[in-house]
Amino acid sequence: MKKVIIALDGHSSCGKSTTAKRVAAQLGYAFIDTGAMYRAVSLYFHQQKINSSDTAEVEKALSQIHIRFVFNQQRGASDVYLNDLNVEEEIRKMYISQMVAQVSAIPAVRKAMVAQQQQMAKHRGVVMDGRDIGTQVFPDAEVKVFMTADTVIRAERRQKELLEKNELVDLEEIIENLKQRDLIDSTRSEGPLVQAKDAVLMDTSFMTLEEQVNFVLDLHQKALEKQ
Ligand code: DC
Repeated sequence: MKKVIIALDGHSSCGKSTTAKRVAAQLGYAFIDTGAMYRAVSLYFHQQKINSSDTAEVEKALSQIHIRFVFNQQRGASDVYLNDLNVEEEIRKMYISQMVAQVSAIPAVRKAMVAQQQQMAKHRGVVMDGRDIGTQVFPDAEVKVFMTADTVIRAERRQKELLEKNELVDLEEIIENLKQRDLIDSTRSEGPLVQAKDAVLMDTSFMTLEEQVNFVLDLHQKALEKQ
């Protein structure tokens, strides 16, 4: 069967990764959460106290960062490894969410991550979620979806996720963080968050996960029929 690339871009916390994971499982495709890669870079910068405005320091740090995805049988999903350490839990914490938009706006960081992402999906058969997949990483992706949802609904979902991991964060703080990240992501010079001209809009505010998955699977089917 022909395999294609499915690019799921959009605003923070509107269900991209959850949808991508399910679609990938149904199709037997690989799932790549590119946000996790930017989060892992942010964690490294935090741990090593990297000065993000020092280009030489950033370049040196990037050469020392090795990111891998390793399937975790227990969770039935991939964990992110930073230099051979499982950082899946740490990168989802609020302090990383508070610095990741700034780190991912650094052009050298984007260049390094985009190159790795292109390498990871060179054989296609991949569902990749992020902000610039349909515009920069794979402008030729056969399926492109731009996901969004109401800010308060997104924040409530994020709060629930954090609570499940025993992190209690005020709803207002999450709303502020989402707005800040969306603003930084949409206004940066390199790979800004913008809907690709050929992407299909999906507002998930009042959609169930099943509806979201079916929406993407339908587009995938149509893309295969066009091949
Ligand atoms: O999807 P996420 O919320 O885990 O992403 C974390 C941050 O990473 C987000 O604020 C923007 C950045 N990001 C990016 O700039 N480009 C991507 N392809 C994916 C994420």
